[in-house]
Amino acid sequence: MSVKEKNKLRYLQRYLFQINTISANPIPFFMSIMEKYGSMVDAYFLKRFYLTTNPEVIRHIFQKNNKNYVKTNRTIDPVRDQIGNGLLTSEGDYWLKQRRSIQPGFHRKRLEDISVTMVNEINAYMDEVLDVYADQNETFVLDKEMMHLAYRLVSKSLFGSEVADEKLKMMDRVISEGQEYTVDLIRRPYLKFWLRLNGGFKKNQENKRVSQALIMDIINDRKKSSKPQNDLLQMLLETEYEDGSKMTDQQLLDESLVLYVAGHETTALALTWALYLISSHSDVEQQLHKSTLSQFSEKDPGFSDLRSMGYTTQVIDETMRMYPPAWLLDRKAIEDDEVGGYTINKNQDIFCFTYGMHRNPEYWENPDTFDPDRFSEENKKKHVPHAYMPFGAGPRLCIGNNFAMMEMQLILSMFSKRYRFEVLSDQNITVQPLITLRPGNGIKVKVHKR
Ligand code: HEM
Repeated sequence: MSVKEKNKLRYLQRYLFQINTISANPIPFFMSIMEKYGSMVDAYFLKRFYLTTNPEVIRHIFQKNNKNYVKTNRTIDPVRDQIGNGLLTSEGDYWLKQRRSIQPGFHRKRLEDISVTMVNEINAYMDEVLDVYADQNETFVLDKEMMHLAYRLVSKSLFGSEVADEKLKMMDRVISEGQEYTVDLIRRPYLKFWLRLNGGFKKNQENKRVSQALIMDIINDRKKSSKPQNDLLQMLLETEYEDGSKMTDQQLLDESLVLYVAGHETTALALTWALYLISSHSDVEQQLHKSTLSQFSEKDPGFSDLRSMGYTTQVIDETMRMYPPAWLLDRKAIEDDEVGGYTINKNQDIFCFTYGMHRNPEYWENPDTFDPDRFSEENKKKHVPHAYMPFGAGPRLCIGNNFAMMEMQLILSMFSKRYRFEVLSDQNITVQPLITLRPGNGIKVKVHKR
C-alpha cells in the first residue's frame, strides 16, 4: 500500500471513529461548537442543520411562529410507527383537535384523585422493594428501579386499580422492549434491513400486537363497567369533541399508548438524576430531609400539600436544569423563515439543545454547580426569560407537566422521610443521550433506612 493510500485509510478511520463517538454521545461535541460559535450555529454533521441554545430563537420556533415547524421525520416516524398517531406523534389540525379536547381532562380534581392512587402505590413500593434492599444492604441499579416505579404509577394512574398486576407487568415488558427497538432504529436507521433478517422486526410486530390487544381489553372492560373511575382512561373515554362525538377505539388506543410511553421514562430519569444529585450533596440531602420531616412527620403528603413543598420543588427544578430528560427537541421548517437575523430554509432541521441552554454560562451562573436555591421564589425573578424549558414550550408544551411534577414531589418527599440513598463511589457516572437523557452505565446505589 502506498503512503498516500495509507494516509487516506487513516483519515477514513479517524473520520469513522469521530462519527461513532459523536453518535454515541453528541453532547460534548454540541457543547464545544456552541462554546466556539455562539448560541445559534449553522452546523453540518452528515447533513446541514441549525443547533441553538438561544432562548429567543427557541421561543420563536416553539411559540411565536410554531405553525411553521413540525417534528422531524427521522425521530417521529419510528415513534409513530411504534405507538400510533397520538398527541405526541400527530401534527397539524388533527393534533390541535386532540390537544384541545384532551387538555381539559387534566384538571385539578382528576389530579387530586390520582395523587391518592400514587401515594398508595409509592407506599407499597417502599414496603415491597426499597425496605427489602435496605434490610439486606443490597446494591441495586437506581435508574432501573425508578423505571419500574414510574411504570407502576403511570399504569395505575391510567388504568386504575382493577387491572390485574399480571396484565400490567406483561404490558411493561412488551412496551419497554418496543421502546428499546424504536430507540435503536432512530440511532442506527441502517439496522432496519438487519432487523428484518435477524427476527427483531417480527418480534417487535408481535410485541405491538400484544400491547394493543391488552389495552383494547382494558378499554372494552371499562366500557362495560358501571363502576365510576377517575383515572386517565376515564378522562379519554369522557373526552368530547366540539360536535359532541367521542373518540373511536383506535383513538383511545393511540392516546392511551402515548400517555403510557411519554408518561414514565422522562419522570423516571428526572427522579434518578435527582436522587443521584441529592445523595452527592449532603447539605441538600439534609435540608430536604428536614423540610419533609417538618411537614410530614405524622402523615403522608397529599395533593393539598404540593404548593407548600417549596424546597422539594426547587430540588426537582434544579435537577431538570442540569439533566433535562428531554435534552434535545427537534423541528423542521415548513417554509423559509427568519429569526434574529438568521435565515432558516424550508425543510431545514433545527435542534433546540435544551441541555446546552440549561448549562450556558450566559444564562446561568456556575452552570455546572447543583444549587436548588436558584429556584427560590426570590432567585427565579432573576432568571433570563425562557432559558429554562424542561417541559418544552408553546402549544406543544408537555401535557403531563403537572402530573409529572406531582409524581416527583410525592416520591421525593416520601423517600426522603424514610431513606437516605448512597451512590457507590467506585463508578464513573456518565450521560447517555438517546431520545431521553439516561445514565450511561446505570447508577449503582444502596439505600439506608433513617
Ligand atoms: C419529568 C417528566 C417529563 C418531562 C421532562 C417531559 C417533557 C416533555 C417535553 C419536552 C415535551 C415536548 C416535546 C416537543 O415539543 O417536541 C413533552 C410532550 C408531551 N408529554 Fe411530557 N414530559 C414529562 C412527563 C410526562 C407525563 C407524566 C406525561 C403523561 C402523563 C407526558 C405526556 C406528554 C405528551 C402526551 C406530550 C405531547 C404533547 C403534545 O405535543 O401535545 N409527559 N413532554
